[in-house]
Amino acid sequence: MIAGTIHKITGPVAVAQGMTGAKMYDIVRVGKEGLMGEVIRLEGDRATIQVYEDTSGLKVGDPVESTAGPLLVELGPGLLSSIYDGVQRPLPIVAEAGDFIERGTVASALDREKLWDFTPVATVGQQVVGGDVIGTIPEGQTILHKVMVPPNVKGTIASVADAGQYNVDATMATLEDGTEIKMSQWWPVRQGRPYTRKLDPTHPFTTGMRILDTFFPIALGGNAIIPGGFGTGKTVTQQSLAKWADVDIIVYVGCGERGNEMTEVLVEFPELEDPRTGAPLMDRTVLVANTSNMPVAAREASIYVGATLAEFYRDMGYSVAMMADSTSRWGEALREVSGRLEEMPGEEGYPAYLSTRLAAFYERSGRVRPLGSDDERVGSVTMVGAVSPAGGDMSEPMTQNSLRVTGAFWALDTSLAQRRHFPAISWTKSYTLFLGQVGSWFEENVAGDWQAARDQAMSILQKETELQEIVQLVGPDALPESEKIILEVARMLREDFLQQFAFDAIDAYCPPKKQYLMLKAILAFHDAAVAALNRGVSLRQVLELPLKETIATMKTTEHDEAIEMLPGFTAKIAEDIAGIEVY
Ligand SMILES: Nc1ncnc2c1ncn2[C@@H]1O[C@H](COP(=O)(O)OP(=O)(O)O)[C@@H](O)[C@H]1O
Ligand SMILES: [Mg+2]
Repeated sequence: MIAGTIHKITGPVAVAQGMTGAKMYDIVRVGKEGLMGEVIRLEGDRATIQVYEDTSGLKVGDPVESTAGPLLVELGPGLLSSIYDGVQRPLPIVAEAGDFIERGTVASALDREKLWDFTPVATVGQQVVGGDVIGTIPEGQTILHKVMVPPNVKGTIASVADAGQYNVDATMATLEDGTEIKMSQWWPVRQGRPYTRKLDPTHPFTTGMRILDTFFPIALGGNAIIPGGFGTGKTVTQQSLAKWADVDIIVYVGCGERGNEMTEVLVEFPELEDPRTGAPLMDRTVLVANTSNMPVAAREASIYVGATLAEFYRDMGYSVAMMADSTSRWGEALREVSGRLEEMPGEEGYPAYLSTRLAAFYERSGRVRPLGSDDERVGSVTMVGAVSPAGGDMSEPMTQNSLRVTGAFWALDTSLAQRRHFPAISWTKSYTLFLGQVGSWFEENVAGDWQAARDQAMSILQKETELQEIVQLVGPDALPESEKIILEVARMLREDFLQQFAFDAIDAYCPPKKQYLMLKAILAFHDAAVAALNRGVSLRQVLELPLKETIATMKTTEHDEAIEMLPGFTAKIAEDIAGIEVY
């Protein structure tokens, strides 16, 4: 065993001597309480350690022991509905002693007593490889957990457990060479779980948010960032996605921004209902929570823990969404540890490897054919990271480095939030690189002219931005009617289409078909109005028609009813405006 002593402590970083033989990223136990830490630098017999727990009370000369292995997470049934800290220790929701775990705690991530209902799938004599399914276990009310052969294991099955009840430590199958396949397995968090191959991200990650699905969609297996200043809606958006995105599993990694914010999440999340099944949302969710009183190093690890949990369910063939709120807190942890290591600082004190770390993290998203002999399973990990630039200044390093390695930029705009335009996602600053890939899905499954409608709406909003500069100079009255109509339609697009109240019983989620039909109604109004103005009708006559009221209520009309009535309403808009007489 490698056992040294503490030589120096600075904040969350300790240097131990006598550590010859230790390896990078080995997990160590520091001090008499056995605080958990990770080796992040080696020089001679000295190991620099980032400690995941509060280091106060540690003294020079205290013992340090290496576990001779990297940070692992345990993967098995029971992850769903669990709440963990940044190194996968179960977090008591509201413990008497506050919302943190006692120092030095070695706690099992999975309940070792609980019995699970196992149904075998594999048979004796079968050749298996990593990823193959040995059997299934209902986990919660909606997810069928797959007990899989771990990556890098293969052989012929000598025995399989009978159908029945077992705990996570049980052996579910044995191979002819004696290898035991347990109900749970371990994986080093800093290493992406292997898969057979990446697939093109051609299926959209539908969210029910009109600005995202219609204007800036991403693909299942894609990634996006939500940068925004304080109070612009990062957390509300991430939680809406957790509730409504069309995926099987949610992994939510929270890094508290304000003191009580994570506590709120920890109390609120378990009460959320899955809007699709009525079951608790936690039945298909894993929460990884870093409260602000936890040391920074645990935050640094937490996003890798989250990514590994997400990949595990991806490997079973599920679509998984991983939210990280906020990745800036992770970046700060990286910066703080780097500072303690006295590394050469890069921009704004972040280490020069910030960009490669971010790239490696987002690289773990993707739509894949998981490991296994069958050629049917498809799984995906979609990642959405919030970024909180100080003062909303998007030129700072976390935002800039994140946007370079992700496929979509959902920019929150402070002035929109101040005007209470929610979601405050800017249609001028945001972009997506997935349009070409998911556009055909929308055209096949929603409407053939989906992209044309989207592009037309975007160009009306762009024209509005240009016109507003003129309006600021000379006032709206100076504009010709052909431009005033643009402002009117753009207002409809903003208020009656883009604004979407996250807490509205109906409008919290809008199905893609309804999004399209709502957009078509507004565009029909635009086209008919422009034609009418061209034949000499006045704008006042167009605006007098009682159409605007119905347009304003589209979003809060029951989805089925709206999808039923909107095509007729759109036709009526065209007819009514075409029927206006010139005088
Ligand atoms: N889509 C939305 N619908 C309604 N209100 C919203 C929406 N997004 C944000 N808000 C409002 O903005 C407030 C701040 O949002 P929050 O997500 O906590 O900001 P951040 O995480 O960026 O600091 C919320 O409490 C809510 O009142
Ligand atoms: Mg927040």
